[in-house]
Amino acid sequence: MTVTSNDTSTEAAPVELVTFTIDGTEVSVPKGTLIIRAAEQAGIQIPRFCDHPLLAPAGACRQCLVEVAMPDREGNVRPMPKPQASCTMTVAPGMVVKTQHTSAAADKAQQGVMELLLMNHPLDCPVCDKGGECPLQNQAMSNGRTDSRFVDVKRTFPKPIALSTQILLDRERCVLCQRCTRFSEEIAGDAFIALQDRGAHQQIGRFDEDVLGFAGAESSTGPVDRPVGEAATDSSGRPFSSYYSGNTVQICPVGALTGAGYRFRSRPFDLVSTESIAEHDANGSAIRIDHRRGQVLRRLSGEDPVVNEEWITDKDRFAFTWQSAPDRLTTPLVRENGELRPASWVEALEVAAAGLAAARRDGGVGVLPGGRLTVEDAFAWSRFARTALGTNDVDQRVRVHSAEEAAFLAHAVAGSGMGVTFGDLEKAPAVLLAGLEAEEEAGVTYLRLRKAARSGTKIFSIAPYATRGLLRLDGTLLPAAPGTESEWLDGLRSGQAGDVDTSALTQPGAVILVGERLAGSPGAYAAALRLAEATGARLAWIPRRAGERGGVEAGLLPGLLPGGRPVTDAAARAQVAQAWGAEVPAEAGRDTAGILDALASGALGGALVGGVELGDLPDPEAARAALDAAGFVVSLEVRASEVTERADVVLPVAPPVERAGSYWNWEGRVRSFGAALESNALPDHRVLHVLAQQLGVDLQAATPAEAHLSIAMTQQEAWSGDRVAAPQDVRTAAPQVGPGQAVLATWRLQLDAGRGQDGEQFLAGTAKQPVARLSPATAEGFGVADGGRVAVSTSRGRVEVPVAVTAGMVDGVVWLPLNSVGSRVHATLGAAAGDLVDVSAAQVAPVAPTSDNSERQG
Ligand code: SF4
Ligand code: FES
Repeated sequence: MTVTSNDTSTEAAPVELVTFTIDGTEVSVPKGTLIIRAAEQAGIQIPRFCDHPLLAPAGACRQCLVEVAMPDREGNVRPMPKPQASCTMTVAPGMVVKTQHTSAAADKAQQGVMELLLMNHPLDCPVCDKGGECPLQNQAMSNGRTDSRFVDVKRTFPKPIALSTQILLDRERCVLCQRCTRFSEEIAGDAFIALQDRGAHQQIGRFDEDVLGFAGAESSTGPVDRPVGEAATDSSGRPFSSYYSGNTVQICPVGALTGAGYRFRSRPFDLVSTESIAEHDANGSAIRIDHRRGQVLRRLSGEDPVVNEEWITDKDRFAFTWQSAPDRLTTPLVRENGELRPASWVEALEVAAAGLAAARRDGGVGVLPGGRLTVEDAFAWSRFARTALGTNDVDQRVRVHSAEEAAFLAHAVAGSGMGVTFGDLEKAPAVLLAGLEAEEEAGVTYLRLRKAARSGTKIFSIAPYATRGLLRLDGTLLPAAPGTESEWLDGLRSGQAGDVDTSALTQPGAVILVGERLAGSPGAYAAALRLAEATGARLAWIPRRAGERGGVEAGLLPGLLPGGRPVTDAAARAQVAQAWGAEVPAEAGRDTAGILDALASGALGGALVGGVELGDLPDPEAARAALDAAGFVVSLEVRASEVTERADVVLPVAPPVERAGSYWNWEGRVRSFGAALESNALPDHRVLHVLAQQLGVDLQAATPAEAHLSIAMTQQEAWSGDRVAAPQDVRTAAPQVGPGQAVLATWRLQLDAGRGQDGEQFLAGTAKQPVARLSPATAEGFGVADGGRVAVSTSRGRVEVPVAVTAGMVDGVVWLPLNSVGSRVHATLGAAAGDLVDVSAAQVAPVAPTSDNSERQG
């Protein structure tokens, strides 16, 4: 029997095979294969607890013992004196392995280990969360003794220990397999859980309770009393902080680690599981949704070796309650006498269609679909805007955006198909991050970068300071104040950056990852393209939202039609018009800022708005005023929002869990999912289809199948004409920083005050405390010290948070989390990265709680 690797992420290469015998069968496997893995591939099951294919072998539990015989120098096959751990030993030519199936010694050894593991294990399977899906339970049945010889009293511990607000530890169930500690060290790189003490006292996790008390979730009186910044330490001196802690619950082979939200709420055999795709970022991570009687009870990581392997972020795992929040919209609403009232679908659609038609006559309708659409919805929105409303005033970007970015997306991203992949990151000699803090903004991409860095990939980041994420990548900071990223991007073309050797960036396979934040840095996208061209590095764009790549492909930008076709190209318009059976307007439209300005001035008669949070825009106040001034607003939303409050007609749409669809992840990979819950809620494409019918247009998007057909027709012919030109080099003068001022740097933390985390209090308790970061010299200049309080203000408002003095940070810059409780930069300051802000020392005494910082953290 010849067995080759099932790893499809690497290209086929000649493989050296090793032939050995297992349970009497001769097997050939690639050199270096572990015995336990070779057995799997030959269909032979060996019990195990600590073994995990994505973790380094540890040999911790000893459950996988087998009998091994090796040929000596003369070729005589001699048995090793004791059974060996099959998860740590690689196969060798001529080796003879006997598992429990053919060796009484191996069977006895495994039963002995099992007996020891069960000695102190509680018999609480009927109430244990893992009961029913527990490897210990299963393997005790298949490879254990039928009864126990242990007659003493079992060891017990107080339980559970809250490792964080969301992860609980029952130590008496732990079999010390170290999967959790190895995950946190090897994969996430944040040792938030540790193996402590020795011998009979050895146990997982016993942390300083001052650190792990984590009152955050319960706090209703303001910021919790925790050490400043994310570098809180446990009793072993290691930092406690992780966005990936839920993975330990999933890989724990017993019920020692449980999630606070799921604990004691269900039995595995009562759950219905549906494979799906996470909606919180642009990675398209595979997940499994477990639900019971129409209610989601938990989400787990799916297995997808080419995307997220077996890991997801805590946000993808725990943040699902937003989809069933109490403010969920369940019926259409129509405004009457200034108030929204429930209406039938028929009435709401009639009113919406009539209002949009009137607004079209009255200057036109601006279309703001938002960045969280499925591909099916994105194409329907694009087609609706062009054919039912006759406008190119459409822009999915609800964030800082620029014309340079729109040109970059149309030139380098739209219609480019699959580009850089997760697998490419792993093999790259170097990866440059610009405008992207991968751990905060693209969680599992960060894990892949860490895997790459551990095998030698050099990571560089153009940023104002070295984040803890970058330090865990052993990365190199290329320090830049916001707005100056293009200087580094141009400078790197020489392969040398001051004292830093960046020559790896010029080697074949190097990758440049740019984030959406470069839109706020004039000239940066153009410089990134020049750098890629000069060095041969491959370039990929990683937005934050799940729908943005698909939206670019669908043409949800004012100058772009589906498939990378420029709006201004007659041949491109003709192709789209043929597919859609309707003319497409020829003039490039307004972007998001232009649409809002035109609504405010009355130049546009109305707006059609999708999943848009006004707080995500750089100036939410202006956006509110624009929608208030708009003649007519139709909102398609899942939950009540600032937009629905201002809408004339609200049409409820389905959240991802209640509909089928696809996301196009940042790689350009289509990630399809089915509906997990049965529901009458309609997806955007269906609602737009019937709204278009009212306007006399056939959108061909009534069902997912029809929507796919419509997409296929649009994509039938790849665009071979001219693409939108590369963005022009844009340079703006650096702001003159006056006394008492600093340049604002800001980005969103993975766990913050975003509405996608609403209702999940346990997750909220692990969000990072907001701080203002300043370099030592800048902090000294403002007369503030580490742990003191600082006020960052503009004419609009003031944010007051503790100071974290950060070594190596660019001078003259202050960093704030963009949208955390107590630090809502857009809403409070009306400012964006690169703007000048005033900085001053604030009173050290805590300020009285405000309505903002008394909200739940996260
Ligand atoms: Fe293994 Fe679970 Fe114990 Fe961690 S807590 S060592 S994963 S049994
Ligand atoms: Fe081999 Fe644990 S599985 S020692």
